[in-house]
Amino acid sequence: MSELQYRTQQKLREIEAKGLTRKLLSPKGIDLSSNDYLCLAKDERLKNAMIKAVRREGVGSTGSRLLRGERDCFAEVEKQFAEFKAAESSLYFSSGYQANIGLLQTFLEADDLVFSDELNHASLIDGMRLSNARKIIFRHLDVDRLAKLIKDTDCTGQKFLVTESLFSMDGDIAPLKKYAEICRQTHINLIVDEAHAVGIYGKKGSGLIENFGIENDVFLSINTAGKALGAAGAFIAGKNWAIEYLINKCRSFIFSTAPLPAVADALKVALEIVETEKQSREKLLNLSRFFRELLNENDISVPLDNSQIVPILIGDSKKAVKIAESLQAKGFDIRAIRPPTVSENTSRLRVSLNVGLTEEIMREFVNYLKINL
Ligand SMILES: Cc1ncc(COP(=O)(O)O)c(C=O)c1O
Repeated sequence: MSELQYRTQQKLREIEAKGLTRKLLSPKGIDLSSNDYLCLAKDERLKNAMIKAVRREGVGSTGSRLLRGERDCFAEVEKQFAEFKAAESSLYFSSGYQANIGLLQTFLEADDLVFSDELNHASLIDGMRLSNARKIIFRHLDVDRLAKLIKDTDCTGQKFLVTESLFSMDGDIAPLKKYAEICRQTHINLIVDEAHAVGIYGKKGSGLIENFGIENDVFLSINTAGKALGAAGAFIAGKNWAIEYLINKCRSFIFSTAPLPAVADALKVALEIVETEKQSREKLLNLSRFFRELLNENDISVPLDNSQIVPILIGDSKKAVKIAESLQAKGFDIRAIRPPTVSENTSRLRVSLNVGLTEEIMREFVNYLKINL
């Protein structure tokens, strides 16, 4: 056995001892774990648009967007997305992870200071790590603490505030209106990751930035397209000059093969559906309200925030896996979320709702959950 193999196997054993081994598990049973909130991933209209586009464009893009990977359909969907988001411009990336690391590495410089919510997604954390900016992590959603930190900290460069709008593992919503106000008063550049909010919130469904009416206060937003929008990739939206700079400087955009062109056509349809089928978004949030109340009535305490992501806190990782497995055996595709995705002793079942579910299914789920807790 090589030294590297020995070291790696030791580490795998440590992971196993903590009940944190990861296994790849294909979907099976009723979907309570995907991010396909609006069930668009299997929508015939998206499928047909994509099939048609594959016939036109082929499969792969064959190069970076700056080389032969560019296509008219990318420019078209970017324009459509910018209008949807009420932004000047948008830029489409192959994934949200790539968008986040690229954006933060590009704009944050050595003299800069970045304030970051402690529960921000790994892709935001990694992006900040790739930059040389000074980082200050503040307690989750704690506006007062943030305001004090801002007041007490000097910086010669630019200041940034980075937050998710709807937090991916807790399903709670950032106080964006207050953040916008603070950022306006203190000249801080606000960066908002709308991964789980785009497609769901706001009159048009473009996200929580729209919902709170703070479009003019946000420097850049990141909007993943592989969740509610049912396809893949992510749009960064903001001012023309910021998007132009990304095209010229963003390493994860430049040094990567462009996304599959056909996805752009599927996304054009997804954006139209989101805008015109408001009832679908309303149904999702009504189901969330029903489910959260049902859990609380059954003494399973969950926050009453209204979002489609409902965390059921278990604590111990092994226990969380065991409960998830029992529910999977009953036909529910539910997954345990463990460290390092969430912090120590906060392992949980993350129920993510979608519009294909019914109150009846959620009742049945809660009945089985109670037996297994
Ligand atoms: C808040 C947040 N940002 C970014 C991402 C990354 O997006 P993608 O899956 O498209 O890489 C995720 C994905 O889970 C996320 O939850």
